[in-house]
Amino acid sequence: MDDIPEAIRETAPSKSSSQLPLVTIVGGVLGVGAIALLSSLFFSRPAAKSTQGTSSPPEKTETIVKAETLNNSASTRSATDNKNSNQIEKSITPEDLLGHLPYEEVARSELTSISADGRIKLHHAAAEKFKQMQAAAIADGVLLTPLSAFRSVSEQDYLFFRIKEQRVQGAAKRAEVSAPPGYSEHHTGYAIDIGDGKVPSANVNVKFENTAAFRWLQDNAARYSFELSFPRNNPQGISYEPWHWRYVGDRHSLETFYKARNLKKQN
Ligand code: DAL
Ligand code: ZN
Repeated sequence: MDDIPEAIRETAPSKSSSQLPLVTIVGGVLGVGAIALLSSLFFSRPAAKSTQGTSSPPEKTETIVKAETLNNSASTRSATDNKNSNQIEKSITPEDLLGHLPYEEVARSELTSISADGRIKLHHAAAEKFKQMQAAAIADGVLLTPLSAFRSVSEQDYLFFRIKEQRVQGAAKRAEVSAPPGYSEHHTGYAIDIGDGKVPSANVNVKFENTAAFRWLQDNAARYSFELSFPRNNPQGISYEPWHWRYVGDRHSLETFYKARNLKKQN
């Protein structure tokens, strides 16, 4: 049915054939056939040409297609996963944007510095645990270096839009590695990008998974209630980020990251 050109569907007779005289039926069939033939002769090629000759720039078209593909696959995942009660944290909310969930910016009064220069900050509870974790790692000869933690919405705005422009990336492509402003876990003060102080070349790079710092985190981060936000093949469709960890060690942080997903799952 969807293969039938819309123009012909619209010209199909609305009365049933039993209500019509034979001449009308024959005339109608011939007429529809003639219209179909004329349509195919005169309109098929120009229609195809106009599609190809769309005025959208290639990147814009590509971006829209990719964004739709991401959104569609996210919806499909949600529907499928909700059927399986044994799988948790597989669905994302309708409020997601290119796979990212919305987050409030934490009040500055809730933040504590975790770096020597005072510029890298986490939520009080997360900061306390991170410092404990860092001290334990040092005792094992491992240097957990904070690279980025709390980020404001305007800082994320720069990271998303300006870097996207500099790298000539579409929005969906950019969203694979950077959250749009208002949608970053870094706004909460609970997320932190961690590097290995002995291997700075692996900072914010998948190579980080080969460092002693990453191996130590895999073995010990849960003792301090930190978890990897974007493991390989995560349901949000975000690129694997072995350096990006989030704190889920109290009610507020846990609700921040899990409540929206669980609400959807209960529906
Ligand atoms: N890189 C993560 C997804 C962020 O920008 O929040
Ligand atoms: Zn991060």
